[in-house]
Amino acid sequence: KRVVLAYSGGLDTSVILKWLQVTYNCEVVTFTADLGQGEELAPARAKAELMGVKPEHIYIDDLREEFVRDFVFPMMRANARYEGDYLLGTSIARPLISKRLIEIARETGADAVSHGATGKGNDQVRFELSAYALEPGIKVIAPWREWDLTSRTALIKWAEEHQIPVPKDKRGESPFSTDANLLHTSSEGKVLEDPWQETPDYVYSRTVNPEDAPDAPEYIEIEFEKGDGVALNGEAMSPATLLAALNELGRKHGIGRLDLVENRFVGMKSRGMYETPGGEIYARAHRGIESITLDRGAAHLKDEIMPKYAELIYNGFWFSPEREMLQAAIDHSQAKVSGTVRLKLYKGGAYVVGRKSPHSLYSERHVTFEDDAGAYDQKDAAGFIKLNALRLKLLANQK
Ligand code: ARG
Ligand code: SIN
Repeated sequence: KRVVLAYSGGLDTSVILKWLQVTYNCEVVTFTADLGQGEELAPARAKAELMGVKPEHIYIDDLREEFVRDFVFPMMRANARYEGDYLLGTSIARPLISKRLIEIARETGADAVSHGATGKGNDQVRFELSAYALEPGIKVIAPWREWDLTSRTALIKWAEEHQIPVPKDKRGESPFSTDANLLHTSSEGKVLEDPWQETPDYVYSRTVNPEDAPDAPEYIEIEFEKGDGVALNGEAMSPATLLAALNELGRKHGIGRLDLVENRFVGMKSRGMYETPGGEIYARAHRGIESITLDRGAAHLKDEIMPKYAELIYNGFWFSPEREMLQAAIDHSQAKVSGTVRLKLYKGGAYVVGRKSPHSLYSERHVTFEDDAGAYDQKDAAGFIKLNALRLKLLANQK
């Protein structure tokens, strides 16, 4: 009996590691993903070793490029935002973690995987739907749904009884529930549970307060190729390098903060605070380049299917035929989405101020208020309006 645990190295998953060993009397394989959360991962190895995990069963993988290239960028091609605002920073990372969990289960001959998500949230759904889609026979152990450690205090007591080191700051009140990666940091719980209370400053970790951001705007240029960012200010960059560079710019200018009450898949509402500095800049830039390279019909259809696509990712259906169908349509639309977007970053905002593309559909000749030299015959508009008005007139005359 062997189980692969998604292990962060933090207190909760350390308790889970031990709990799996004593409850299931099984061998635990740990998997720690570097998704750009900006934490030292070496301590995770040391802790796992301390709890008796065999060195060859400690997996620490740098997944940053795969995360941005194969998950974040494809999602950004859709301009996905859940419930109008949320850039899905946690939602999009879960399928990748599950994919790797399953790969490691196969490599090590494990028959189960385990994670530290609670029974109240979205993450359990995302981890498990992904795992079952990739390996239908896999067993999933979700300790938060099984054990009787129903409070933070109980968890800490259990940790101390089992010689698991408890960091000092975790002894008092329960901490925020946070999740971080290259795309975002999310915080839920504690003071945030009152949706009337403004998020205190100390909750933010990767953006300056826009009020304290530089008084001078900064101009940047992002280059796109077939819908994906490929360069910043003329310098070619890999997906993860580009997102990391945008994160630094976003941090400095206080961009990408979001205070949101959202609908969880399991039915309850939750209030969260998100920081998505680079993602917010990137999302605006992507819309900027699409504005001149996409035809109206394609652009509007994309906007219609976007909420559905975002909901699929939020609800954990990344590995589903319907997400793949929508992805195929979205990817198809990006063939000519190449060019450069110029943005102004200023006190919490990322503003598109310029766009150019070799495939631009923008015709200054047609749109000009000056003489268009016969490009467009204004008389055509009279018939266009007349026929469009026909049914409105019939309706207005209705007895
Ligand atoms: N509410 C967000 C989502 O469902 C963030 C979840 C954060 N996860 C966490 N373990 N703190 O995508
Ligand atoms: C959790 O419950 O583990 C975090 C929040 C969520 O999954 O929505």
